[in-house]
Amino acid sequence: MPEKKTASNFTSILHEDRVFPPHAEFSRKAHIKSLAEYKRLYRESITSPEKFWGRHAKSELVWDRPFKKVMTFKVPDAKWFIGGRLNVSVNCLDRHLETQHANKAALIWEGEPAPDGKPGEERTLTYRQLHREVCRFANVLKRQKVGKGDRVLLYMPLVPEAAIAMLACARIGAVHSVVFGGFSAQSVADRIKDSGAKVVLTADGGYRRGAIVPLKKNVDDALKIVGPDGKSLTSSIQSVIVLRRTFHDIHIEEGRDVWWHRELEYVDDECPPVSLDSEDPLFILYTSGSTGKPKGIYHTTAGYLLYTKMTSKYVFDMKPEDVYWCTADIGWITGHSYLVYGPLANGATAVMYEGAPNWPEPDRFWRMIQRHNVTIFYTAPTAIRTFMKWGTEWVKKHDLRSLRLLGSVGEPINPEAWMWYHEVIGGGRCPIVDTWWQTETGGILISPIPGATPTKPGSATLPFFGIVPEVVDEAGKVVPPNTGGKLVIRKPWPSMLRGVWGDKQRFRDVYWKEVKGSYFTGDGCRRDKDGYFWIVGRIDDVLNVAGHRIGTAEVESALVSHPSVAEAAVVGRNDELKGQALVAFVTLKGSVKMDGDLREVLRNHVAREIGPVAKPDDIRFAEALPKTRSGKIMRRLLKQIASGVEIVGDTTTLEDLSVLSRLSQSEE
Ligand code: WT7
Repeated sequence: MPEKKTASNFTSILHEDRVFPPHAEFSRKAHIKSLAEYKRLYRESITSPEKFWGRHAKSELVWDRPFKKVMTFKVPDAKWFIGGRLNVSVNCLDRHLETQHANKAALIWEGEPAPDGKPGEERTLTYRQLHREVCRFANVLKRQKVGKGDRVLLYMPLVPEAAIAMLACARIGAVHSVVFGGFSAQSVADRIKDSGAKVVLTADGGYRRGAIVPLKKNVDDALKIVGPDGKSLTSSIQSVIVLRRTFHDIHIEEGRDVWWHRELEYVDDECPPVSLDSEDPLFILYTSGSTGKPKGIYHTTAGYLLYTKMTSKYVFDMKPEDVYWCTADIGWITGHSYLVYGPLANGATAVMYEGAPNWPEPDRFWRMIQRHNVTIFYTAPTAIRTFMKWGTEWVKKHDLRSLRLLGSVGEPINPEAWMWYHEVIGGGRCPIVDTWWQTETGGILISPIPGATPTKPGSATLPFFGIVPEVVDEAGKVVPPNTGGKLVIRKPWPSMLRGVWGDKQRFRDVYWKEVKGSYFTGDGCRRDKDGYFWIVGRIDDVLNVAGHRIGTAEVESALVSHPSVAEAAVVGRNDELKGQALVAFVTLKGSVKMDGDLREVLRNHVAREIGPVAKPDDIRFAEALPKTRSGKIMRRLLKQIASGVEIVGDTTTLEDLSVLSRLSQSEE
């Protein structure tokens, strides 16, 4: 039987009957006050999408020139707000300067305490101050010859300058591409090559759990890497702008590297925004796919801005008086849409924290919530499960009564974690929005509306306005309630990806071929009798490890790039904390002897090639991998072995049956 069939025809075993209707008090003050109101708006957004989106685009955004048409769509190409011109930084900053919000906090930032124990710094930037910093840095970019359409790669710690740099790019029409600071030099080089970036923005280092992450050193290494053809991967780079954060010694390459703070001395505070077309690209963000090559997902200007603004407003019920904290790093899409663009477009106050949740102690987050009077808190299930493990006593030390809404993102939240979040963090009082979306979708597609939707622990509930998700079978037909299938989106939405950077074919193949005419999410899902969506997880060879999407093929190619490794297959195993853990099956080259150290050597090798997030949790050495006669690795069997379950199903296509029993025994 082909492997694919089994993947989407599963029966879901999770049964969860609890329902939590919104509290009347919350609903009364919310933007959307009842299920009926949500349903009415949803219906309108589906029956008259152009009217619905056109109206909101006019009322929510500031335009330099109005759009002529709301949208056109011909698979796979969508265009939104055609003919319109605007600037994202103006919509996030300048527009608030004429209101009473000009001098309120836009960003509240806390740094990690330094390794020498010095307390973490704290900085607050009002909208007016943030606007000035963005204009100044935009002028620095211009000084470095960055203009409209040029790509700028950010490899930075989570400091205000990261958000400033993103907005500065948006101001002059440059396209930012943020690479998470936990990725390796090799990953940086690959992304520079793919995007053709002209400038890298980085810092001498960043702090993480008391250690320094050597960001600049990694950039130096990245800029030395050559491809298989002997040519540099990074010849597009003209300059590197270095922020001083850790103040430790770093190499400065004359003629290429400049200091951020020095550059600022040469520029003034005025920087007129560049008026951009609705469909001009805003950013590229690389994500994992099921091949070894990272995919540059790109988003454009108007549709992305409108959708992230509206989802922030309605899903988080965000208002200017909110202190909103999203714990994501700007290296992920969540950090783009719901740390920077969405909250600032709404004139809210966004909290930003550089460090780890257990630094210096496991109550860091709760301490910060109390200290800043955070009202909306958005984090990931893997973090919630970790907090549960650390113990409720760390939470109880702090007063969390400022909180009024909780959010979750990144992977399915198990009902147990949901209940803990609800009771211990939310005091039984805060609605939880379990938000389903992807790098590709730009914003939240399935989520409760907190004043309207009754929630069920573990379900992302119902679609946002304009979104038509469906669960379908192999033939693309909608499956009956409570049957597993593939999650697809039937209609275009404003913040959908516009493509894979430089690879139109891959865009078509990955997202538009699987189910004709629909966007394929790669997720498995079921819908219950109330129409609620229950996301089950990825159905392709992409794993969700601690909320990070990791392509198994990427880890495999990193493993085989090590001189000792002949072959590698990476699969997932369920993990209590991380959701999924990576298990690698490795065969070694003939002459290599397996010893205890090799496991660690290979794990570190993967960390170097891709980054620590992709380190296999478990490496099992084997003499051979189970293969079909046509040479395809039978992952289904490896998954069963990795989870320690008995091997079931068809093994008749297996070339060498004895491999299986040997693999099962290969654990130490
Ligand atoms: C994949 C997207 C969206 C920002 C963070 C991850 C999984 C995401 C949920 C959720 C169940 C979820 C899906 C999705 N996912 N949110 N609320 N419930 N699964 O972005 O790296 O692009 O990953 O994360 O599998 O496809 P990403």
